[in-house]
Amino acid sequence: MAIKTKFTEVFGVEHPIAQGGMQWVGRAELVAAVANAGALGFLTALTQPTPADLANEIAKTRDLTDKPFGVNLTILPSINPPPYDEYRQVIVDAGIKIVETAGSNPAPHLPMFHDNGIKVLHKCTSVRHAVKAQSLGVDGISIDGFECAGHPGEDDIPGLVLIPAAANQIEIPMVASGGFGDARGLVAALALGADGINMGTRFMATAESCIHQNVKDAIVAGDERGTELIFRPLRNTARVASNVVSREVVQILDGGGQFEDVKDLVAGVRGRKVFDDGDLDAGIWTVGTVMGLINDIPTCGELVSRIVTEAEELISGRLADMVEDDEAESAA
Ligand SMILES: Cc1cc2nc3c(=O)[nH]c(=O)nc-3n(C[C@H](O)[C@H](O)[C@H](O)COP(=O)(O)O)c2cc1C
Repeated sequence: MAIKTKFTEVFGVEHPIAQGGMQWVGRAELVAAVANAGALGFLTALTQPTPADLANEIAKTRDLTDKPFGVNLTILPSINPPPYDEYRQVIVDAGIKIVETAGSNPAPHLPMFHDNGIKVLHKCTSVRHAVKAQSLGVDGISIDGFECAGHPGEDDIPGLVLIPAAANQIEIPMVASGGFGDARGLVAALALGADGINMGTRFMATAESCIHQNVKDAIVAGDERGTELIFRPLRNTARVASNVVSREVVQILDGGGQFEDVKDLVAGVRGRKVFDDGDLDAGIWTVGTVMGLINDIPTCGELVSRIVTEAEELISGRLADMVEDDEAESAA
């Protein structure tokens, strides 16, 4: 048995599961393991310090899998923007066929991707942005609810409402993102009108993700309340692990502080130390509320096959059993 949807069909993957781009986490070993499991993994372009490093990481991933995988290009406003055009060129030259865009309007990047036969899965956090991206011609939508790790936007609409509200207006393949970690989530997403799920946090806690074991153990130990929303007053909200640094950031900004006042606390190098050295209070690190549903550190293969198998059992077992056949009942 298998679960086939518009997403698996259009993006050419076996299972309706994606692993979204993750800064410092979305590297070759994880993405190849996700691909080998039959799901769609994305390398994170900006985790690589230069476009040439991205080319090497793509080559390294290809050494580990011959299944399709994609690259995430996160475009955020920045004082010193990375050379997006050069990263984009590397993606094209390497023959990548699927890109996950996120962070801002994908319009400037679409012609080049489409001219080169690349399918674009655009990640956004509101129905209006999903509708806009669809009208621009992207090939799929990844809709991220308030539960998600990273940037949930400023509307605070959880998936239970966001997904069906988006499904009402989206005709292209759509994966539901934010808070997904098991078969129940996949079945719920399909019931709400999505064609699959995108997961970040769940894939952090897998054997193949190259982050320090302390971080994986913290995710297993953590519960659904273990996150903070930083940058709220700056309207650039990010959901991150609750630790001494994130709580201090919240306190400073809630007290009227400005970005300058927290700049050093949120520095990327400090966050990276968490993943590299396992010092959980070294800086800010991204994680989602789905932490409360994560109790183990499986391989990506075990995780994907468990989610799909249990989803099939849930649909044809527990849910099917709840549906009463009126005629059979009345005949009895
Ligand atoms: C450690 C980490 C880093 C992330 N970095 C990025 C990023 O650079 N670009 C991006 O588009 N999304 C990023 N995300 C968001 C994920 O791609 C995905 O949308 C999100 O994790 C979904 O929510 P979940 O964690 O509840 O599954 C990141 C998530 C995590 C956990």
